[in-house]
Amino acid sequence: MSEILVFFTQTNILEFKLPELKTLAKLSSVPLTLNENSHDKKNPFLVLDLQSEDDAKRLMKRTVLMRSMYELWASAKTHDDLYSQLAKCPHHLKAQYVQRPDGTFRVKVDAFGKKLQDPDRQDRLDKILGILPFEGKVKLNNPDQSFHLLELYGQAGSKTPDKPLRVYFGRWLMDGQRDQIRHYHLQKRQYIGNTSMDSCLSLLMANQAMVTENALVCDPFVGTGSLLVAAAGCGAYVTGTDIDYNVLHGKAPYGIRESTRKIGSDKNNLVNHEQYTVDNIPQHPCLELVANSEQPLSVHVSRRLITMRKHLDYEEARESELQATVSDDHYTESFRYRYFHSAGVPEQKAKADARDEQDPLDRERKVQS
Ligand SMILES: C[S@@+](CC[C@H](N)C(=O)[O-])C[C@H]1O[C@@H](n2cnc3c(N)ncnc32)[C@H](O)[C@@H]1O
Repeated sequence: MSEILVFFTQTNILEFKLPELKTLAKLSSVPLTLNENSHDKKNPFLVLDLQSEDDAKRLMKRTVLMRSMYELWASAKTHDDLYSQLAKCPHHLKAQYVQRPDGTFRVKVDAFGKKLQDPDRQDRLDKILGILPFEGKVKLNNPDQSFHLLELYGQAGSKTPDKPLRVYFGRWLMDGQRDQIRHYHLQKRQYIGNTSMDSCLSLLMANQAMVTENALVCDPFVGTGSLLVAAAGCGAYVTGTDIDYNVLHGKAPYGIRESTRKIGSDKNNLVNHEQYTVDNIPQHPCLELVANSEQPLSVHVSRRLITMRKHLDYEEARESELQATVSDDHYTESFRYRYFHSAGVPEQKAKADARDEQDPLDRERKVQS
């Protein structure tokens, strides 16, 4: 067993971190035990017990939310406790990584939630090098081994305490796939619209959907195809449909975000943060809920990535049994209808009414399988 330290990236999609980790564990057959309730989602660090370094690296192959992983050598509330743990560092680690005159190494000191001054950084470095007298040559770029002291002072924006909340020391194992976010960035795409999904979320959705090489992925609400771009990047064959001719033919901007700046702030008719419960999610006997993660977009509005797994084939003969249900129905009136009606903007109301008339399904959506 190895204790592995995960350093997550900081985004506004904190709720997606653990679902992505769990999905990647399933996808790469890595045994993982997680106590989700004990993890504060704002904490960028998480310690995992994994069977091997190889398992840790398998988890990192597709992640967009884990920045880096480290083999954890010590973790404590104070620097002094950390140093005394490091002084008792197991012999096999010392033999393999410290007493290695032929290798290259570096030690980095990083703080999360605080800017460390150079003298503090140097003080930490001197202490560590006193306890772990690495015998190899220092190499700052691309060394054989990279060691990290990571200090947690709290979340960005909160008042910084003088002392860290926690300090960790570990050997770097692997970075995640954040470069994929840049690779598929919307700015590099030939065709986008104003509701195009950004590359991070698209890659995350491809992970949640466990898209693998040669899979067939169909996005029925394809828009400008961001999810399919990410899925194709995972080696899938992709196809999609959309109700909007213009979008499919590369013409017009579309979507609710177009209008958000024009409307008022009375959103009482919408499902707001307080009212929202998992009972709002439609259920179906053939589908099981795997994850439900919130991305706040503003004080009023969030969107959710809901992952469901089909675990039973639908059979027409069992139609009456295999019906979709929703415990807390906010679908009878469409989101669009309530959004524009609650905003009190006459032309938007008219537009919403007209579109709902054209698309009665949206207005009177009773959830169907
Ligand atoms: C939020 S956009 C999808 C954005 C897409 N992920 C992208 O990156 O461009 C939702 C899309 O669903 C389409 N849509 C809405 N209702 C639909 C329906 N009933 N059938 C098919 N497409 C629909 C809209 O035209 C729109 O293109």
